[in-house]
Amino acid sequence: MEKTLVIIKPDAVRRGLIGAILSMYEDKGLEITAMKMQVATDELLEKHYSEHIGKPFYKSLITFMKSGALVVLTIEGDDVVDKVRKINGATNPEKADSGTIRALYAESTTFNCVHGSDSVKSGQTEVDIWFG
Ligand code: PPS
Repeated sequence: MEKTLVIIKPDAVRRGLIGAILSMYEDKGLEITAMKMQVATDELLEKHYSEHIGKPFYKSLITFMKSGALVVLTIEGDDVVDKVRKINGATNPEKADSGTIRALYAESTTFNCVHGSDSVKSGQTEVDIWFG
């Protein structure tokens, strides 16, 4: 069974979008199998975003991700990595298909409401990072 990690980012939590975003996954029949709310530590974020260390946006991304509570969840099922990425839409909301979470709610490539694992392998790694 495939597993993916979703993070509802601080912009979406602040704007009261937790319920709307969770419904986007549940309305498509996806199964949420774990969920928690927390403020992320530097250590967790450094592991989670290790592939982006050194990129121009890295520091501002970490500052943003620490700026408030996150909702972290796992979704399990057939092909869930791709299914969740389709529901999320493109990283840059200007390029996101209509009806996706980012087209509906995201304000920018940084304030883009959600994270979804980008492969089955990162799904496994990210679930381990956040849920141990
Ligand atoms: S890239 O360009 O291939 O490294 O981008 P990607 O793998 O899609 O995701 C990058 C994550 O960093 C966040 N972020 C930004 N990306 C690109 N440019 C800028 N300026 C930027 N600011 C923040 C972006 O939201 C992705 O976060 P996650 O949580 O992975 O969706």
